[in-house]
Amino acid sequence: MNQDLLKQKAADKALEMIEDGITLGVGSGSTVLKFVAALGKSSLQFKDVVSSSEETTAALKAAGYQVRDLNACDAVDVYVDGCDEIDGNKYMIKGGGAALTREKIVAAAAKKFICIADESKAVDVLGRFPLPVEVIPMARSLVGRALLALGGEPRWREGVVTDNGNWIIDVHHLRISDPYALEAEINNIAGVVTNGIFARQAADVLILSRANGEIDVQ
Ligand code: 5RP
Repeated sequence: MNQDLLKQKAADKALEMIEDGITLGVGSGSTVLKFVAALGKSSLQFKDVVSSSEETTAALKAAGYQVRDLNACDAVDVYVDGCDEIDGNKYMIKGGGAALTREKIVAAAAKKFICIADESKAVDVLGRFPLPVEVIPMARSLVGRALLALGGEPRWREGVVTDNGNWIIDVHHLRISDPYALEAEINNIAGVVTNGIFARQAADVLILSRANGEIDVQ
């Protein structure tokens, strides 16, 4: 089964878990876009829908949903998003699509985070996927040197500007044995907006689409 189909199956499974009338948060990335397309074919109506990126907002609008500013909503009942890596504690690396900061904000506002992923995203230890870090542009070199001192190999994702007007540094060759500690340590570097370790905003539910066609809900 190809990866596209696996992503579709995870997205379809998530749709089964969504109830009418809730406030729904929607993440970013290709798996989530499949979820949004499936939403558009459903008859589900929501109290509010909030989005974590401009791309997702456009897709939600095309699917017939109005998107609210998070500031205008109370709590988000359920947040559905993908990931770049996820470990056994449901800690994740996110930000491959450069939407990590808004994703972390909506995840923090959510009562329940459902992560949808294909089996290639499941790892024992986070860090094979380069860790995205969103930085204020003037701090790029400063933050890069600090990330180098942490043992990673920082590379500027040149040409990419986030929805917040900032830049992304991808940190290669990190073995993230303590995601909770490293998330805080990197966020403490002056000039970092946030980093793509989601330990404090770990998923509550993982829908993992396996190559043999099975869907694991953990
Ligand atoms: C975007 C993200 C995405 O969730 C992550 O990159 C997964 O994307 P895809 O579903 O395309 O594999 O964090 O910032």
